[in-house]
Amino acid sequence: MKEKHDLVKITCLVENEALPGTSFKAKHGIAWLIDTGSARVLFDTGPDPSLLEHNAALIDLDWATIDAVVLSHAHLDHTGGLPAVIAHTRPSTPLHAHPDLFRERYSKRARCGMKIEQKVLAAHFDLRLDDQPVEVVDGVWTTGEIVNRKSFEGRSMWHEVQIDGKWLPDPYRDDLSVVVETEAGLIVLCGCCHAGLLNTLSQISRTFADYEIIAVAGGTHLGSADAAMLAEAVDALRTGYGQPRLYPNHCTGQKAFAALSEAFGEKIQPCPAGTVLTF
Ligand SMILES: [Fe+2]
Ligand SMILES: [Fe+2]
Repeated sequence: MKEKHDLVKITCLVENEALPGTSFKAKHGIAWLIDTGSARVLFDTGPDPSLLEHNAALIDLDWATIDAVVLSHAHLDHTGGLPAVIAHTRPSTPLHAHPDLFRERYSKRARCGMKIEQKVLAAHFDLRLDDQPVEVVDGVWTTGEIVNRKSFEGRSMWHEVQIDGKWLPDPYRDDLSVVVETEAGLIVLCGCCHAGLLNTLSQISRTFADYEIIAVAGGTHLGSADAAMLAEAVDALRTGYGQPRLYPNHCTGQKAFAALSEAFGEKIQPCPAGTVLTF
């Protein structure tokens, strides 16, 4: 670890819901702004360029101050806002993602992956595709590809790819999360967590051995988890990770949120667009 940050500010810019009493707009998807005090990272872009612009204007975001962009995976609810990011960020801003980002992906046999071609992204960004953990700015890392997926994945039965003319389950190789180092410990930010929340946390624990995970925020894709899977998640969070603070949103699902709330009480909070988390 090169540097740990005293005060990290994480803003949920786009989410399925908006903070009541604010002008933030909501739509199924997610985008985060991470401000470490010395650098700013945009993690995902939400589904819609105009929505991202609208919500960014509400926090007076100076797009020129964004040092790096990270994409959690290809799905359009995370990458649909990219045209706004291309329009407003500095040329050659680093954009980090997994090399499998540009594979054709389908939901219910309709395309649901990247709408923008690789060459269009490469014309604006410094495109950095890597399946290994990468430190994108001081103290902010990608997890890299989630391997050794021993626990259940955040899978949808509708998510498929075509290989040699056959329809196969999407392996979600492109799915990654972000880790932020603070003095108090690690913050995990998720996009959709298709690779599985517990698989993702396990990999982070291996990568950042000796550092405690103090908070987990974002889409955990527990909506399709059955009761046994939810019990496994609760048990692992409690016994394996010391009950980190939880800010689940996006694809977490109401049933899962209720189960986590029952288990963790005040340690869990909703995280709609407009929420600012400080650590
Ligand atoms: Fe997704
Ligand atoms: Fe999603």
